[in-house]
Amino acid sequence: MAYIEIRNLSKKFRDNVVLDNVDLDINRGEVVALIGPSGTGKSTLLRCLNRLENPESGTVSFEGKKYDLTTKKSKSKRELRQHTEMVFQQFNLLKNKNVLKNVIEGLKTVKKISRDEAEQIAYRELGKVGMIDRLTHYPRHLSGGQQQRVAIARALAMDPQLLLMDEPTSALDPELVGEVLMIIKKIAQEGNTILLVTHEMDFVKGVADRVVFLENGKIVANGTAKEVFENPRDERLKQFLIKVKQLDGSEYVI
Ligand SMILES: Nc1ncnc2c1ncn2[C@@H]1O[C@H](COP(=O)(O)OP(=O)(O)OP(=O)(O)O)[C@@H](O)[C@H]1O
Ligand SMILES: [Mg+2]
Repeated sequence: MAYIEIRNLSKKFRDNVVLDNVDLDINRGEVVALIGPSGTGKSTLLRCLNRLENPESGTVSFEGKKYDLTTKKSKSKRELRQHTEMVFQQFNLLKNKNVLKNVIEGLKTVKKISRDEAEQIAYRELGKVGMIDRLTHYPRHLSGGQQQRVAIARALAMDPQLLLMDEPTSALDPELVGEVLMIIKKIAQEGNTILLVTHEMDFVKGVADRVVFLENGKIVANGTAKEVFENPRDERLKQFLIKVKQLDGSEYVI
């Protein structure tokens, strides 16, 4: 039994089948990079896992505790959501709250943790992402990279079993991408379990334990970065890698 098991996940928007019976295992402490062409269902997969979307079918198990991803019951949804946290492309910080309050909000309202304890957790997590000296700043006074680091601290503070990250660096100015990737690498090395959608292929090669290539709602490659990049057996994956290479000039052995 894997730490996290996703089974039969299907999602369509009207007659557009976006996820077609996806199965995916994730091991504890693993960083799984989800890659694939635009519109292939990567964001939808992440969003189904924390119930921002309603799939047609699917279950997810966390250490053997199984959840029906189609459930409409708010209690099950709430329970399910406690297992994951999402980091969005656009940071999604609360604009009218400062850095500290952004991090402690969920701890107080969802986890019912006392303010004192919530602050201790927030200091610890904000320390990890190098934002401890910005506690009273509002999001609008932070750079994109700083906002994303706060969003990461906020997610980690909730101590999720699975951290979902949807293109966490693609809304950033190029010079700010590195600082956020460095933080993600650090939290990966600390043993967090991460499912990450990204187009940063060099990062994927350096940090991901496993690469999953999604195409037309199906997983068509699943292996180590070396296996997936150096020996892409699937023609669609090959074409995708060639295209990425043309776009960003990264080095691939194909
Ligand atoms: N709320 C929605 N209503 C209707 N169609 C949607 C909705 N959200 C996504 N889709 C469609 O589902 C498909 C998958 O979208 P998704 O955002 O998951 O792709 P993606 O792989 O994340 O793409 P990108 O790399 O561009 O972010 C697309 O065809 C998209 O148009
Ligand atoms: Mg997307």
